[in-house]
Amino acid sequence: MDHRLKSFHRISGITIAAFVALHLFNHMLALAGPESHIATMTLLRRFYRHPVAETVLLLAVVNQVITGIRLHKKDRSGQRRGWQAAQHWSGLYLAFFFVIHLGAVLVGRTVLQLDTNFYFGVAGLNTFPFALFFVPYYALAVIGFFVHVASIHARKMQRTVLGLPPDTQAKAMVFLGLCFTVVLLYGLTNGFTGVEIPPEYGVLIGK
Ligand code: HEM
Repeated sequence: MDHRLKSFHRISGITIAAFVALHLFNHMLALAGPESHIATMTLLRRFYRHPVAETVLLLAVVNQVITGIRLHKKDRSGQRRGWQAAQHWSGLYLAFFFVIHLGAVLVGRTVLQLDTNFYFGVAGLNTFPFALFFVPYYALAVIGFFVHVASIHARKMQRTVLGLPPDTQAKAMVFLGLCFTVVLLYGLTNGFTGVEIPPEYGVLIGK
């Protein structure tokens, strides 16, 4: 039973990780300006917004949250330490983030009838006081993703790479994730100077 639960969690996790790698690469292109970000998202949407692909992705997220919470409930021993604890807490944050993030995107598309593009994603991030929520909210999600993957790596990997033991490899992945997050936020906020949000997205920031 436990084994099956973990297998389901692993399979949807790999599906989501493939999307997230593309998604974060897309966000990184904000460094080259909103136009590059939007052009790349338009191209990527041809794949992930295909009804079959999007259904698979959304079901994978639902499965990930449900199996993750069930795994959390089963392991309440309180004996978690090190990478096991890191995997656990990053997973719980990602579950919270997924529910809010996907809920917001789906409401944005269906109820608000907005194009959920670059400006939808960064409206709160670039407006005070909403940024007080959105900076940690997005930063923790990106770092959480790297920590979750690094924790799995630390626990499964058996070999040294370039003379580095698995534990050091995983720490390097987390460090990379921290640097990645700072650069990502730099791009999504126009070098920390702020992005002008078009009037049609004003509903998101009380304008
Ligand atoms: C800097 C942080 C992030 C921003 C600004 C952001 C923004 C967005 C936007 C604007 C969309 C809508 C895409 C579209 O309409 O085509 C979206 C979708 C999505 N995001 Fe994020 N995202 C961020 C980080 C993440 C992270 C860290 C994850 C996962 C760990 C994630 C998972 C997803 C998923 C699963 C979708 C749904 C794709 C779909 O079916 O349309 N996002 N995000």
